[in-house]
Amino acid sequence: MGKARIVVTVRMPEAVVDRVIREFDALVPPTDIDGPEVIKAAIAHRADGLLVAGRTRRDAPTIAALPDHVRIIATCSVGFDHIDVEAARRKGVMVTNTPDVLTDCTADMAFLLLLGAARRAAEYEQTMRKGWRQAYGMGEFLGRSVAGKTLGILGMGRIGQAMARRARGFDMPVLYSNRRRLPPELEQGATYVADFRDMLPRIDILSLHAPATPETRAIVNADTLALLPRGAILVNTARGQLVDEDALIDALKSGHLYAAGLDVFLNEPAFDLRFADLPNVFLCPHMGSATVETRNAMGFRALDNLAAVCAGRAAIDPLWTAA
Ligand code: DGY
Repeated sequence: MGKARIVVTVRMPEAVVDRVIREFDALVPPTDIDGPEVIKAAIAHRADGLLVAGRTRRDAPTIAALPDHVRIIATCSVGFDHIDVEAARRKGVMVTNTPDVLTDCTADMAFLLLLGAARRAAEYEQTMRKGWRQAYGMGEFLGRSVAGKTLGILGMGRIGQAMARRARGFDMPVLYSNRRRLPPELEQGATYVADFRDMLPRIDILSLHAPATPETRAIVNADTLALLPRGAILVNTARGQLVDEDALIDALKSGHLYAAGLDVFLNEPAFDLRFADLPNVFLCPHMGSATVETRNAMGFRALDNLAAVCAGRAAIDPLWTAA
């Protein structure tokens, strides 16, 4: 059997491109491609599979327009809200993601944002870059300690659990809200609160780790923010869709929220520039999984899925299974 034929639609790390070239008959365009360009490339290359990433939208019309020889869309992301998996299932196109390999890296980023927001890292950094010359009094320019503060986690999947592990190292009690209560060996002392709204008045810091679904859309809004105690902190490494950004900006401006650490936004990369004017936000450009090690591991995992499905084997990380 010849090499599997794939189209790589996004720029990949060098090690991943090396493996693509070694193991696949691949079309690797010099820039990212999307929409009709992907369809054209898939047809021209007679592709068995597509390698995509979180920023590539694969909606129902795009999936319907794919030629029948495309058997798999492998996304280099754990989230798959950018792909209409049901439309792919109807067409018989497998969709796979890359769980596990980015868990620690994303939880590290969430903790970085938590500390950055609580300890005013963005403001301190800017002060230094502007050429710090003024000494601060003992009571000036202070942040907030995190030790002993209660962390609330929305979404206690792999990344939520990894965040809880980090919080334990900082002596933070952990509450969590999730569709289901976890078994005690996974809870590791975290307290389950079935209703998200009931958890909010009991926490100091809220970290979001739930997927973007119709149920979680704008779950952080004016009503739910008001349930947090004054001076709370919000951390989001999940998806911007979980947050009503107008309400968040109001809460940050009024001081109801002390600060926020944000890696994800409703519109990316064209995020709401009002955030950039707020001193009490610590901002990152959707970099939760952005280390060399993790991006390589994600790319390799996506290639493993492509290789398996193109060779007629079961996907390693299938997002749908035959009924
Ligand atoms: C993921 O893996 O879902 C990251 O957010 C990148 O999109």
